[in-house]
Amino acid sequence: MFYPAIRKVLFQFDPEAIHELTIKGLKNTGKSPLNLFYKQQVQNKPVTVMGIDFPNPVGLAAGLDKNGECINAFAAMGFGFVEIGTITPRPQPGNDKPRIFRLPKANAVINRMGFNNKGVDYLVSQVQAANFKGILGINIGKNKDTPEENAKDDYLHCMRKVYNLATYITVNISSPNTPGLRSLQYGDALNDLLSALKAEQKILTEQYGKYIPLAVKIAPDLNEEEVKSIAKSLIDNQIDGVIATNTTLSREGVEGLEFANEQGGLSGEPVKDKSTQVIKLLSAALDKKLPIIGVGGIASSADANEKILAGASLVQVYTGFIYQGPPLIKTIVNGL
Ligand SMILES: Cc1cc2nc3c(=O)[nH]c(=O)nc-3n(C[C@H](O)[C@H](O)[C@H](O)COP(=O)(O)O)c2cc1C
Repeated sequence: MFYPAIRKVLFQFDPEAIHELTIKGLKNTGKSPLNLFYKQQVQNKPVTVMGIDFPNPVGLAAGLDKNGECINAFAAMGFGFVEIGTITPRPQPGNDKPRIFRLPKANAVINRMGFNNKGVDYLVSQVQAANFKGILGINIGKNKDTPEENAKDDYLHCMRKVYNLATYITVNISSPNTPGLRSLQYGDALNDLLSALKAEQKILTEQYGKYIPLAVKIAPDLNEEEVKSIAKSLIDNQIDGVIATNTTLSREGVEGLEFANEQGGLSGEPVKDKSTQVIKLLSAALDKKLPIIGVGGIASSADANEKILAGASLVQVYTGFIYQGPPLIKTIVNGL
């Protein structure tokens, strides 16, 4: 593949401009002959997780296709599953630009996008148009201007809208770029949210005659007690899976590099060990009662295997994919 050459050109330009251009290029080409530029066959390595049969355990992490505009294109690249979102009830612009920065010396990215998205109704229209037959995760969040005490209503609103279209739904409570969001990871706030979502899942299961698993996505910036407490809430509320992790607020591993002091979440190589550590702690605390989806700094099959050894049943990639493109998917799947 010629991705390294393409990357050299792409990396000359502003990261968000390239992102938008890529989304435009991938939109509507997923099922067309134009997909020959990125389509590839990867080995079948089936796994069953959360009661879902995945063709292979390597997925696209949330945030790249926020509005679900390129589902078929990402599937054509060989991802075993595609997670779209984070989506919020109403469209919102996100933070001011620039809000995404590359740190190539650390194979890392810092972003403070702030859930820029076109709103859940637009995402629903995109998913319906895609008519995708693979495994689709839909990641939901809250609008920035929704008061924290009403956050639950935003999640419930999105959940109702996407329930009939998702293979699983991710509850994102770990973006560092929406003020107050991460406080939903703790104590009563977490139990309140999870019990409400679980009750709604029951109603929707009856309404649609199908059970759609719920996964919760957590941060890497948690200590052992906090991970244990989250694990207990997940078990108590019969949540179906946990995604670990989102980006980190730490700047370990990027000190002194250009953009290292930009606000936002750090992803890629510097978050790798932090996320693996959270997976290990989770794995011990969960005692196999629910599966873990490992994400954070995966850039090779060895990295993916490390997550699996730590206790993950599936993995996802984002930053590694930005740096290496579609060949990374094949490399990881083949090397698992
Ligand atoms: C530019 C960018 C935007 C992101 N947006 C989201 C998002 O909307 N929702 C979400 O759950 N995670 C989001 N993430 C986090 C990723 O899904 C992933 O959890 C994190 O980057 C760690 O994985 P990585 O090191 O492979 O990138 C975003 C990451 C980046 C770099």
